[in-house]
Amino acid sequence: MQHSLPEQDLDAVREILLASIAAADSAEALESLRIAELGKKGRLTQLMRSLGSMEPEARRSVGAALNAIKTDVAAAIEGRKTALMDAALDARLMDERLDVTLPVRPEPRGAIHPISQTIDEVIAIFGEMGFTVAEGPDIEDDWHNFTALNIPPEHPARQEMDTFYLPGEADRPRRVLRTHTSPVQIRTMLESPPPFRIIAPGRTYRCDSDATHSPMFHQVEGLVVDECTHMGHLKGCLIEFCRAYFRIDDLPVRFRPSYFPFTEPSAEVDIGCTRAGGDLRIGHGDDWLEILGSGMVHPRVLANCGIDPGRYQGFAFGMGLERIAMLKYGIADLRTFFESDLRWLRHYGFAALDVPSLVAGSTP
Ligand code: PHE
Repeated sequence: MQHSLPEQDLDAVREILLASIAAADSAEALESLRIAELGKKGRLTQLMRSLGSMEPEARRSVGAALNAIKTDVAAAIEGRKTALMDAALDARLMDERLDVTLPVRPEPRGAIHPISQTIDEVIAIFGEMGFTVAEGPDIEDDWHNFTALNIPPEHPARQEMDTFYLPGEADRPRRVLRTHTSPVQIRTMLESPPPFRIIAPGRTYRCDSDATHSPMFHQVEGLVVDECTHMGHLKGCLIEFCRAYFRIDDLPVRFRPSYFPFTEPSAEVDIGCTRAGGDLRIGHGDDWLEILGSGMVHPRVLANCGIDPGRYQGFAFGMGLERIAMLKYGIADLRTFFESDLRWLRHYGFAALDVPSLVAGSTP
């Protein structure tokens, strides 16, 4: 029978164990140490077992000492484990450090399509003149696209517009892809009482395709109706627009008598240009370029919308957005707008909003 374990031996065991725990340099080494000492067949466990064969007095003192060692060893193992984990994390953080000063990897960048850019520019300019944006459907009925605009069924303008008709339906009015944005005038006037000051950019459709025509294209419509609106307002507003849009303060603008069924009188608007050497340049010159149609709203159109032409007058205008974009940005073929060619988009696209303004000095 074993009587006791000398106290010095227990102290030595404790010192050796704590030293080897402190020296363990990995989680794995620490774990094998724990098994070797505290595990089922571990050294301390064996020593605890041997207590059974001791004298009661010795058992009490050696037992207490062994328990204290066990507690210390377990705590030392936990402490060492945390220290090793912290060190591993520090090493990883050092290793994976981000260098925020490195240049970014190139990302493919999108661009704003010239038509979107042009719409934004037009909205910005008219927005400063107090216009709001109105919309209407691409699929219109015959009445909104033609009849209400004073284009009766047999009117030659219907042929000129190369209309796309939708298949007829027995008890429905004939539907068309709108040939211009002018039906938005009608919808606006039917929706609420005057006054109005709106522009309506949007898609329009005509059965036509060449370098300057596409079956789908864009127009912007304008409509102003009030009790004392007159031709002077039409002229001032459109001259201002042309100069702001083309960013030429003294751009010559000319109003040439014309004809539209829905305006009376009607005028086409030309801007000054030169065609010297085959190159088209907008600005002062000896030549003129037509850019939009306009006129005073025909009294019959007002009446068709329930507005008293004796009390209200107005003006309207419409222009092709591809056309003014081509002129401003030097794009030669209208069809390229809709070919989705990325090289074209990269070349003619816009990086960010860059819209002209009426306010002097605010244009970049
Ligand atoms: N709707 C006409 C067109 O498509 C343009 C226009 C609009 C003319 C408004 C006068 C007034 O050609």
